[in-house]
Amino acid sequence: MKISDNTLYLEDISAELIMQEYGSPLYVYEESVLRSCFRQLISGFPEGLLRIHYSMKANSNQSILKILCEEGSSIDAVSEYEVRLALESGFEPGQIIFTGNNNNLEEIEYCVEQKVLINLGSLALLELYGNRHSGTTVSVRINPGLGAGHHAHCITGGPDSKFGIYHDQIDSVLELAKKYSLTINGVHSHIGTGIFEAEPMLEAMEMTLAVAEKFPDLEFVDFGGGFGIPYRPDQSALDMNDLSQKMTHRFREFMKNYGRDLEMKIEPGKLLVGPAGILLTTVTNISETPKYRFVGVDSGFNHLLRPTIYGAYHRIINASCVSGNEEDIVVVGNICESGDILSRSGEEINRRLPSPKIGDRLAFLDVGAYGMSMSSQYNFRPRPAEILVKEGRSRLIRSAESYEDLTRNFPSI
Ligand SMILES: Cc1ncc(COP(=O)(O)O)c(C=O)c1O
Repeated sequence: MKISDNTLYLEDISAELIMQEYGSPLYVYEESVLRSCFRQLISGFPEGLLRIHYSMKANSNQSILKILCEEGSSIDAVSEYEVRLALESGFEPGQIIFTGNNNNLEEIEYCVEQKVLINLGSLALLELYGNRHSGTTVSVRINPGLGAGHHAHCITGGPDSKFGIYHDQIDSVLELAKKYSLTINGVHSHIGTGIFEAEPMLEAMEMTLAVAEKFPDLEFVDFGGGFGIPYRPDQSALDMNDLSQKMTHRFREFMKNYGRDLEMKIEPGKLLVGPAGILLTTVTNISETPKYRFVGVDSGFNHLLRPTIYGAYHRIINASCVSGNEEDIVVVGNICESGDILSRSGEEINRRLPSPKIGDRLAFLDVGAYGMSMSSQYNFRPRPAEILVKEGRSRLIRSAESYEDLTRNFPSI
């Protein structure tokens, strides 16, 4: 992303040109950013120690999956269809770990058939699985008893969380493994998303390793994702160099005590794809109350849900006039809900931006993760197209939905 002539450019193409070609609104991804996020992360760990399983729930566009596959990523999948798409995008079954939650047995059976790694997060599921597939190999997701994240809804560890087998129930895992002759080849935890401090990550690692040492047949320990990216201009990034060194040191120490080499897995989503994505929109309306100046765009929480459900901040740029006379505005979408506010940051909804006018293009930054993948057809509005840009060229990687796409599953009368 760069600014030239007071307008926004993505990989040397102006946002305006992209929108003239493909319409509005649009999700646009910069390929070089995507590749460099992956390369930067992997380069922080010694060769051969770490396997990165991209958490495809962050963004499941097939072109993005193929790029990450080329880069050498593996996959963290959460549903049968995610597994299917990963397989169809070039990932080998052994590169995919399936960590469903409250998934049904059919999904597990599909993964068994496909020879995908299965990671079970409850004693009940382990019992059901063991009953059907005694003598096989699985890993277990544990709840290490602590969680962290940028919002309460994003914390996936600790006593309030539905995820994983609580760390004090490990004896029951060992009993079930014995009862059904299961080999437990991995221990997994994921404590939340949007974490900016190394401490909770390292604490969870400690708890996970304390559980892992009870299993004699491990091939890997998986520490999940959750690595935060700076959404605000004044926010410092999680120091990944420091964290990767500390994780490497601790893991090597663990392997020494364990008695053999294991694979360390992590499952980043946001860290890999978040910074690569931008949502481009067009200003369609401006209105005022005694309190606020509202700037309406042709998108909304149907396309970018994070501000509405988490109060999450996304930088907004007036791509048609990046700097100029600024004013406080509230950027709102075209969804019939008063919560449809895209400039939200917690309770604050005003944002200071160069005065937009109708027809200006507003860009929402760092939306590559949990942007399109959390979108919906609410208000019977289609999802936007997705575009990939690379070295001055753009390409459509998913068409915008049409009226026919929205109606095709109704029975014909
Ligand atoms: C099991 C698991 N792994 C990894 C992730 C990725 O998290 P993030 O995108 O914050 O890295 C998630 C996200 O919720 C998850 O549930």
